[in-house]
Amino acid sequence: MNSFEHPDHLSELDDDDFDLIYPLEIRDLSSIHWTPVSIARKAAKFLVNKPGTRVLDIGCGPGKFCTVGALVTEGQFTGVEQREHLCDLARLTIGKAKISNAKIIHANITQIDFSNYDAFYLFNPFEENLFAMGLIDEIVVRSDALFEEYTVYVTNQLARAPVGTRLVTYCGCPADVPNGYECQRSSIEYSLTFWEKTSHHFLEDNRPE
Ligand SMILES: C[S@@+](CC[C@H](N)C(=O)[O-])C[C@H]1O[C@@H](n2cnc3c(N)ncnc32)[C@H](O)[C@@H]1O
Repeated sequence: MNSFEHPDHLSELDDDDFDLIYPLEIRDLSSIHWTPVSIARKAAKFLVNKPGTRVLDIGCGPGKFCTVGALVTEGQFTGVEQREHLCDLARLTIGKAKISNAKIIHANITQIDFSNYDAFYLFNPFEENLFAMGLIDEIVVRSDALFEEYTVYVTNQLARAPVGTRLVTYCGCPADVPNGYECQRSSIEYSLTFWEKTSHHFLEDNRPE
């Protein structure tokens, strides 16, 4: 079946069928690197608590989370991705599926100001700096220092976000979630945690704790 003939149904497909929208080499990475459709649906519905909520996918790959999220909610989805070829593929997917509430930015996360967004999705984007197994490809520089730099950047940006900010972590380490975010619910089975910021924690010089 050509998934693009029925774009409204993309968000109801199982992963094998959804992933047919991607070329084989990207499809082969899906079970490790891209969010399953059922997880994307659950995460997006939590993050978008009112129409127009601006959601940032931190490291969006070929746009699977943004595509599903944009189809099942009235949120505005932005994916940021450092690999240009994945940005091109994500844009192609969004265009072919006739989605108007998702867009992709080609950038490193450290160039993104989180104050332009209301909610955030985090699926282990920086782990590739720590492990050489099952890499997406070899085209980006990887190091322990970059893992630290990216993780600290995201943690600091999330710490500055206003009370009410929502975050979903998938397969991630809750240790990176700053003080002030409360777990609303979590599923060990799916390695999925839903967070909402309920209080601010700042030092006197306005640095996050
Ligand atoms: C585990 S994949 C998740 C993809 C997508 N969020 C999803 O759930 O389907 C992580 C992605 O983050 C990207 N990434 C890693 N570090 C990044 C950085 N510093 N800035 C932007 N993107 C990054 C990788 O290229 C990869 O595509």
